[in-house]
Amino acid sequence: MTGLKRCSFNSQAMRIPGLCIIIKQLKTLQRLQTCAFFSTMRCISSDTRPTRRDGRSHYYYITTPIFYVNASPHIGHLYSAVTADCLHRYKLLKGFDSKFATGTDEHGLKIQQAADAAGEDPLSFCTDVSERFKHLFRCCDIQYTDYIRTTEQRHRRAVEHFWSLLKSKGLIYKGSYEGWYSTQDESFLTPLQVGDALDSSGEKIKISLETGHKVEWMQEENYMFRLSDFRSQLLNWLNGNPRAVQPERFHRTVVQWLQEDLPDLSVSRQRDRLQWGIPVPGDPDHTIYVWLDALVNYLTVAGFPDQYEQWWNAAHHVVGKDILKFHAIYWPALLLGAGLPLPQTIYVHSHWTVGGKKMSKSVGNVVDPLERSQRFTTDGIRYFLLRQGVPDSDCDYYDEKVVKLLNAELADSLGGLLNRCTAPFLNPAQLYPPFCSDAFPSQQYTGATCRAVAEDYNMLDAVKALPAVVEQYYESMHVYKALEAISSCVRLTHGFIQRHTPWKLDKDKIEDQRWLDTVIHVTFECLRMYGVLLQPIVPKTANKLLSRLGVGTEERSWATLNFLPKYRSMDCPFEGRPLGPDTGVLFRRLERPRTQKTRNLRKANKAEKPL
Ligand code: MSP
Repeated sequence: MTGLKRCSFNSQAMRIPGLCIIIKQLKTLQRLQTCAFFSTMRCISSDTRPTRRDGRSHYYYITTPIFYVNASPHIGHLYSAVTADCLHRYKLLKGFDSKFATGTDEHGLKIQQAADAAGEDPLSFCTDVSERFKHLFRCCDIQYTDYIRTTEQRHRRAVEHFWSLLKSKGLIYKGSYEGWYSTQDESFLTPLQVGDALDSSGEKIKISLETGHKVEWMQEENYMFRLSDFRSQLLNWLNGNPRAVQPERFHRTVVQWLQEDLPDLSVSRQRDRLQWGIPVPGDPDHTIYVWLDALVNYLTVAGFPDQYEQWWNAAHHVVGKDILKFHAIYWPALLLGAGLPLPQTIYVHSHWTVGGKKMSKSVGNVVDPLERSQRFTTDGIRYFLLRQGVPDSDCDYYDEKVVKLLNAELADSLGGLLNRCTAPFLNPAQLYPPFCSDAFPSQQYTGATCRAVAEDYNMLDAVKALPAVVEQYYESMHVYKALEAISSCVRLTHGFIQRHTPWKLDKDKIEDQRWLDTVIHVTFECLRMYGVLLQPIVPKTANKLLSRLGVGTEERSWATLNFLPKYRSMDCPFEGRPLGPDTGVLFRRLERPRTQKTRNLRKANKAEKPL
């Protein structure tokens, strides 16, 4: 009997809502793979397994976009970073050699103007803001391996080399550029992408229809890149690699863009207009276009132009939807031109809005990620962003939603489960108790000693299948779905405890004591799974959970998951072990933020109080 078959349970199981979700997920998986029931926990599709060659593990290289330094980080920037961090940590757990790059994009007119406005020299201005990003990332456990600044010498060398490669292949020529330019987006626009608007003083201006940013007419002698030559190669790449741009709707968008006009791209600005950038090799009167400069950062970190192939061949980019065109059209075309391999995947995510609006300083709705990570804890804000952030559509941020979610899922549900099973009343010996196969036999559903009921078997099937479900979602950057699946299993485990009310068992009766131990053992095994699978999301909380269960640091990888071995008559290394020290609640409940309504209510109550 296969594990997947077993999940087409009886109709009773289908009535359990959490289980239904898992079953749906299992059905999807069933199409992708077949795995023997309880034969091994590593039943995953072979292309995601780090097979070893010459005793070395596979490489994985994940990047965030590099962040503009014209303003401080906001919650959307943290979301890009947390998403990439999650994928990096997940790959490490899977045994990959993983590189994770982030950093700051420091050249260009926008930065030059911001530094001028602040009355600072551009480099000190950039250093200051770049340090703020670094500080935020350190505070939020963003475990990057490389931090790149485009003002570094190693990057300048990579950009110059990349430019020379394109030049030597005849793909860069001098031409005259005339058209619209948005400094805020550092982007060229066609007349169809431009509309009319009024600025704050009521004056008529032209804006980018996509971003709403002001555009200006530009007429310059520039270097141009033969982008138009690459249309069919780009289409071939996208058609041959349907998972190159994910989620699928963004893949379709890029294919659609390629049906439209694809003019050559201006890749330089005249030096007298833009000084803050890398000069064109051999022509100091021109500065390299900031997007070409910025995109090459991914190669710089990989080691370009020296030894870069090993990392570059394993490159994956996380990007926001606003910069899709740069990553899925310009970047692959530039790489094709330079004769370099294309990235494996471009993971696209949507945006965070606040009060339904785009975050902006002028609207005054920018959410400070550092302040929120202090208020809700680092793990709290990470969990919230990854649980609520949906790659396909924009998501609205508000503090009450954070508190509600964290209290329900981390404090009450997961924390409550751990708390119950480690409480001295149920677990006076503070041990990982023994599992009794007479009380929870693997084959029978009935029998004198069997206490387990059909729903318990269904729960085991769901938890057993969870790593494969979570893996599938981590791989496709649908992290919120992975968390949904974990959360629904946590609820099933709560149901298991509720059903058997172990606190009502008579500890003086040997059968009752055995069943009590078995219930706790099974719950600990479930918790161990959740702890391991949650490490990429909430590293501190997962560590606390696993340490409390007495799970060693070397026992927390994907390969060591091996759920409930006693059920399959195998040894369980945890059975009989003392629990780790009690270091307090897993996740402290948060106070609900005061809204204007509750503030008014408090005021009114105070006023009514008799002296
Ligand atoms: N510097 C360029 C990227 C160059 S990469 C070669 C840039 N920088 S950015 O600071 O404006 O944006 C960095 C990332 O943050 C992008 O992925 C962008 O989509 C993301 N976000 C910016 N605002 C966002 C939200 N409101 N919500 C989610 N992500 C957002 O673009």
